[in-house]
Amino acid sequence: MPERVRILEVGPRDGLQNEPRSVPTAAKLRFIAALADAGLNEIEASSFVHPRAIPQLADADALFPAGPKDDGVRYSALVPNARGLDRALAAGVRRIAVFTAASETFAQRNVRMGIAQSLAVCADLIARAKVAGLGVRGYVGMSFVCPYEGDVPKERVRPLVERLLELGADEVGVSDTLGAATPREIRETVGHLVARVPAARLALHLHNTYGTALANVLAGLDLGLRSFDAAAAGLGGCPYAPGAAGNLATEDLVYMLERMGYATGVDLERLVAAGAAMATQLGREPDSRSWRVRGSVRER
Ligand code: COA
Ligand code: ZN
Repeated sequence: MPERVRILEVGPRDGLQNEPRSVPTAAKLRFIAALADAGLNEIEASSFVHPRAIPQLADADALFPAGPKDDGVRYSALVPNARGLDRALAAGVRRIAVFTAASETFAQRNVRMGIAQSLAVCADLIARAKVAGLGVRGYVGMSFVCPYEGDVPKERVRPLVERLLELGADEVGVSDTLGAATPREIRETVGHLVARVPAARLALHLHNTYGTALANVLAGLDLGLRSFDAAAAGLGGCPYAPGAAGNLATEDLVYMLERMGYATGVDLERLVAAGAAMATQLGREPDSRSWRVRGSVRER
C-alpha cells in the first residue's frame, strides 16, 4: 500500500483572497465542487475576516450554506477573531483555521494585533471552537522569511507552534507566507520543531515565489511531514505580504508525490481542468507546470 500524503487545498481561500477580479459566489461553488470531484478531501473554502480587509471573500456567509455537505470532504474557513467565529458558526462551518505569525510587523499589518495579543485571541477562539465540536487548525504565518523583518529565527517559531497545540489545535500549518524559504530554512526551522513536536501534527504551507516550494516539500517529507497546503493553478498571495507570489500549485504537488510513490487520492487530469476553469474566470493562465505540459500536449 502506498503511503498517504494529505493535501489541504487552499485555492478557494488563499488562492482568491488577493485576486484583482472578483469572483461570483456561484463560480466559487463550481470551483470547490470541481476540486472535491478531483479527489481533494480537505478544502479551505473561504475566510470570515473583515470584508474591508479581504473584499474578495466577503461572501463567505452565503458561500458555506450554499456549498456541498456531508460528501466526505472536510471544508474549513479562516477565522481571525470572535466576530469571525460568530459568522462561521452561523454559516454552519465545522472546521476553522486560526492564525498568528512569527513576525511582529506582519502580525500588526495583517490582523492589527501584536503576536502576544493574536495568541490570546487564538486561545479564546480555540476554546470556543472545541466547545462547539469544531476541528481547528492553527497557522503560524511568516515562519521563515518576512518581507518586513528578514530572516525569522527558528527559536521564535517553535514556542508559537507548541502554544497553538497546547491550546487544542489539531495541527499547525507552518507557513512560508512570502515563498522565499529554501530547503535550508525548512531543515533548520522544521527540524527544530520535529525535535519536540510530532511531525503528524505539522503541515507545511508553501508559496512558490522563487520556485523553491517543491524542493521545500521534499525537505519536509525527509523530516517526516505528510501534510502540505497547495492551491490549484498556483493561485494565491496575501495583500499584507508584499512580494509574495502564489501558493505551490496543487497540480505540481500531486504530480511529484504520485511519481514518488505516495498516494494523494487526487486525479491530476480533473484537477488541472478545475484549476484551468478558475484561471479562465480570473482572466489569466494557470501557474502550474502540469497545466503547461498538458496544454501543449493537447495542442499537438
Ligand atoms: N467580520 C466582520 N466584521 C468584523 C470582523 C469580522 N471578522 N472583525 C471585526 N469586525 C468589525 C467589528 O464588528 C467592528 O465593527 P463596528 O465598528 O461596526 O463595531 C469593526 O470591524 C472593527 O473591529 P476591530 O475588532 O477593531 O477590527 P480591526 O479593524 O482591528 O481588524 C481584523 C482586525 C483581524 C478583523 C482584520 O485586520 C482582518 O480581518 N484581517 C485579516 C487579514 C487577512 O485575512 N489576511 C490574509 C490571511 S493570512
Ligand atoms: Zn498562504
